[in-house]
Amino acid sequence: MVSRIAISLVLFHVLFCQEFEPLDAQTWVQAGYWYSGSGFPVSNINSALYTHLICAFAELNSSTYELFISPSDEQYFSSFTSTIKQKNPSITTLLSIAGGNGNYTVLSSMVSKAPSRKTFIQSSIKRARFYGFQGLDLSWVSANTSSDMSNMGRLFEEWREAAKSEATNSSTQELILTAAVQFRPGLDFTTYPVESIRINLNWVHVMAYDYYMPQWANFTAAHAALYDPSSSVNTDNGIKQWIGSGITASKFVLGLPFYGYAWNLRNPKDNVIGASATGPAITEGGDMSYKDIKAYIQRYGVSVMYNATYVVNYFSIGSNWVGYDDVEVVKVKVSYARENKLLGYVVWQVPYDDNWALSSAAAELVDQNGHHSRRLLVIILITATISVLLLGISVYYLRSRFFKSTGAINTSKDSWSNVNKNKEASRLFHGNAPDLQVFCLSDIELATDRFSIENKLGEGGYGPVYKAYELWKEGKGMEFADPSLDDTNLTCKLLRCMQIALLCVQQDANDRPSVKEISSMLKSETILKIPQRPAFSTIKDKLKPNEFIMQEEKLSVNDATISEVVAR
Ligand SMILES: *[C@@H]1O[C@H](CO)[C@@H](O)[C@H](O)[C@H]1NC(C)=O
Ligand SMILES: *[C@@H]1O[C@H](CO)[C@@H](O)[C@H](O)[C@H]1NC(C)=O
Ligand SMILES: *[C@@H]1O[C@H](CO)[C@@H](O)[C@H](O)[C@H]1NC(C)=O
Ligand SMILES: *[C@@H]1O[C@H](CO)[C@@H](O)[C@H](O)[C@H]1NC(C)=O
Ligand SMILES: *[C@@H]1O[C@H](CO)[C@@H](O)[C@H](O)[C@H]1NC(C)=O
Ligand SMILES: *[C@@H]1O[C@H](CO)[C@@H](O)[C@H](O)[C@H]1NC(C)=O
Repeated sequence: MVSRIAISLVLFHVLFCQEFEPLDAQTWVQAGYWYSGSGFPVSNINSALYTHLICAFAELNSSTYELFISPSDEQYFSSFTSTIKQKNPSITTLLSIAGGNGNYTVLSSMVSKAPSRKTFIQSSIKRARFYGFQGLDLSWVSANTSSDMSNMGRLFEEWREAAKSEATNSSTQELILTAAVQFRPGLDFTTYPVESIRINLNWVHVMAYDYYMPQWANFTAAHAALYDPSSSVNTDNGIKQWIGSGITASKFVLGLPFYGYAWNLRNPKDNVIGASATGPAITEGGDMSYKDIKAYIQRYGVSVMYNATYVVNYFSIGSNWVGYDDVEVVKVKVSYARENKLLGYVVWQVPYDDNWALSSAAAELVDQNGHHSRRLLVIILITATISVLLLGISVYYLRSRFFKSTGAINTSKDSWSNVNKNKEASRLFHGNAPDLQVFCLSDIELATDRFSIENKLGEGGYGPVYKAYELWKEGKGMEFADPSLDDTNLTCKLLRCMQIALLCVQQDANDRPSVKEISSMLKSETILKIPQRPAFSTIKDKLKPNEFIMQEEKLSVNDATISEVVAR
């Protein structure tokens, strides 16, 4: 009995939470690049921590300008999406083109002529579909002349047009089109094709790193500084310039480097940020993955500093000085992205993480900071009302037993048999009193332990439920949800979900739907009844005080906090 109802609640959760996946994916992007050169097995990626994974890099055939994937890469690229989706079916995968090693001459030449752009576009779409990618990302990081930029703008325009027409012709969802761009729109001699980006791309990946490298900077530096009081070369400034160029903040995905740089100090005693340095240390170019940096820290037992002026972690040992982004930096940068209403973050690159520490820090922050929590209210509402329904039945039952034995009242028997008339319900709710109470309480705990619910039992009812009902009745139901919510892609519209939730807490058991009915309501198969005022407004009066307190203590849901939203 207990396990059966627990299973149906869990199933309900799973079903319902899945409904919310596309919404999350659209409003907050947690992206990461996987680069084949890392040699990191795709199957080892913890894809639950990401919403988008980007497979890097496809190249261009230098004579035909068709998309070209080397035979050694092809085995990984062709199975990338299916492998990733095994762990996280709701993830979106993109195929990235060019990258840091992309041949400048070939790219510049391809975008300069309409026929070669067309060849490239058609072949890229064909390859993306063939391998199951849902989007394409142009990572032409060496574009540096004004003709490159205006041609790139034309490419984006034609790419979007082709993607639209392909989606229409094949009745599939249109491919996502993105690009990796420098940290600010203006370069030394030119500017990005801002207008074309705004119109034609879904979003851009801002490469907010490599501001300083040991190979050319003769001083130690935060290579991905969020702020810099003495220079305009910093992420905050770059993002502000991008937004100032006329593109909305929600088209920017902030790049997070999962790597750092090691400098060789001129004087080991002068080891501040900006200290004189004589080139790379530890590795040839000084670049080190986060994983290698952590291993280095552990081996030498160094103590790591955090500088909030630049938002960077660093340490020095002997003449080696290393600057990088650790957990606290990642958290500050993800918070920055949220506060500035950017679309999300993108990691270069996922295989550099150490034991998923940075990936988790970035993903958790979003959950903890309540980005999802307000929209989760709708889920919470349904969860809570199911719990309320269960509690209500147990209360009715206990009350009828209690009053029956004292001979005070004998009317709620009908309510109970009304519930029993429903086949589904009778199967679920059949049992003797202690059994019933135990499973109701355990299920409420089960259902609520992952969510923070502000409900206060017994104080004029269930706060949010009443608020929801009042708002719903006045036709202002959407005010209960996050205004940024977009439910166009959900099969269950938010107002409908709310109505279903309210139906679950009706006073009269006849008005409450069964689990089966809820399921079909969520799938929009049935027309919904109009809910009346929710039940249990006077629950406190009808119960013996100490009887109620016992339940309230057991139910201390107010302390619960959101730990994990859903497995993606
Ligand atoms: C580029 O395309 C040409 C013509 O199809 C082909 O002969 C050549 O092998 C291709 N290059 C690569 C590197 O695949
Ligand atoms: C880029 O492509 C051109 C034309 O095929 C070729 O001549 C050149 O060697 C390539 N450059 C690099 C760095 O591969
Ligand atoms: C642009 O980049 C290419 C390749 O990195 C380089 O050869 C060329 O000199 C650059 N041009 C300008 C104007 O900076
Ligand atoms: C879609 O169909 C139209 C009309 O048949 C055709 O002109 C166009 O090239 C097709 N687009 C793609 C991407 O196949
Ligand atoms: C770096 O080199 C330049 C000249 O190339 C010099 O003017 C500057 O003082 C040096 N900075 C440091 C911190 O050594
Ligand atoms: C960060 O480093 C700079 C340069 O060494 C220093 O001036 C500043 O006080 C530091 N800020 C913090 C918060 O430690």
